[in-house]
Amino acid sequence: MHINPCLFILARSPNQIVWNYEQHTQFELDINYSTRLAQLIDDPSDFDACNPIDIEFLNASILTAEPQKTLEWRWDELSRIFHIGTKNIPCESVPKDINEWAILYLQHCNEVLSSPTPPTRVKSCPVDRIALPPCSLVDMEDVSLGQTLVSRSTSRSFNEQPISIEQVSTLLYLTLGYLNERPFIHETGHPEALGARRSSPSGGGLNTCEGYLYVRHVCGLEPGVYAYHPDAHALSLLRPLPDAPLGQLLSGQHFINPLPFGLFVTSRFDKLWWKYEHSRAYRMAFVETGHVSQVFLMVATALGLNTWLTGALSDRQVERLLGLEDTPEQPLFFVGCGHGDGQVHCKELMALVNSQDTGS
Ligand SMILES: Cc1cc2nc3c(=O)[nH]c(=O)nc-3n(C[C@H](O)[C@H](O)[C@H](O)COP(=O)(O)O)c2cc1C
Repeated sequence: MHINPCLFILARSPNQIVWNYEQHTQFELDINYSTRLAQLIDDPSDFDACNPIDIEFLNASILTAEPQKTLEWRWDELSRIFHIGTKNIPCESVPKDINEWAILYLQHCNEVLSSPTPPTRVKSCPVDRIALPPCSLVDMEDVSLGQTLVSRSTSRSFNEQPISIEQVSTLLYLTLGYLNERPFIHETGHPEALGARRSSPSGGGLNTCEGYLYVRHVCGLEPGVYAYHPDAHALSLLRPLPDAPLGQLLSGQHFINPLPFGLFVTSRFDKLWWKYEHSRAYRMAFVETGHVSQVFLMVATALGLNTWLTGALSDRQVERLLGLEDTPEQPLFFVGCGHGDGQVHCKELMALVNSQDTGS
């Protein structure tokens, strides 16, 4: 007898939950079942066909008669549990044709809409708003898409030169702003609040990404941390900059300390769960963040700025900075831009590399 390799166990006092993450089944075990399972994990050959608990385990595929083939994963257990656990989600009913799809889709939308819409922001922002100048595309008139694509690159060598509030306005409007140029969508199954459209696609039209500015050196804006309001193209000042340099918030990547401007991109997990009640939607949070980030990098490049990005956030510190501790809005990514020599690495790293080369 064999223990199914795709199980994990959750402690939920007084019971244990055994979760088969491949088959998407869960079983709640009391102390008798938990104790027996612990014995069988210790020695699967102890299986006793006369023990009703053992038979139940076998019927539930917690035990298997043959060794299970497992996917060659080559990564850690947690990533495996998440990836496989959000794969091959059983659908109650897969639509057979377009008419059935339409009926089921509308039914799902109506179910979603019958529950309260998530709030616009998870935490209220200061009421004082700073209106940004309207987005101006003049700075990018002569830049082609192809040119922007080939010019975008990651730079790790910035200087203290500021960028302008007009550039910040363009970056924010084109990355996260609700576009005035695109009419508000009145789609079946979408409440009014979800009719806004951005330059990036958005899972379910939910616009789950939010943006928080790290302003260090922007002409026309006080240094500080700001929340962006995509509906009004405006900012709220949340707090002054922390004493610690930016690199401290980004897992010690101190080469980034001179960066004049950056954007923390967060995701509203409560909105995703509201429409998509399955952990598979967690994948979409990162996909959407990637779309948003790429637009930021492209716009910054088109504006003639150097760009940088990271997912290596010092999570707790960043959440505290943005005022998002213990909320379902989680910071996922950071993108920034400014002026510099465009080098891939900072001069301190290059000096080390060169000294190694000459020393050897
Ligand atoms: C998801 C993601 C995370 C990244 N994280 C970092 C990072 O933490 N630090 C960094 O310096 N660059 C980071 N980068 C930038 C990559 O190192 C860079 O894109 C790669 O070396 C290719 O270079 P290029 O962007 O100039 O084409 C990240 C890029 C992506 C897409």
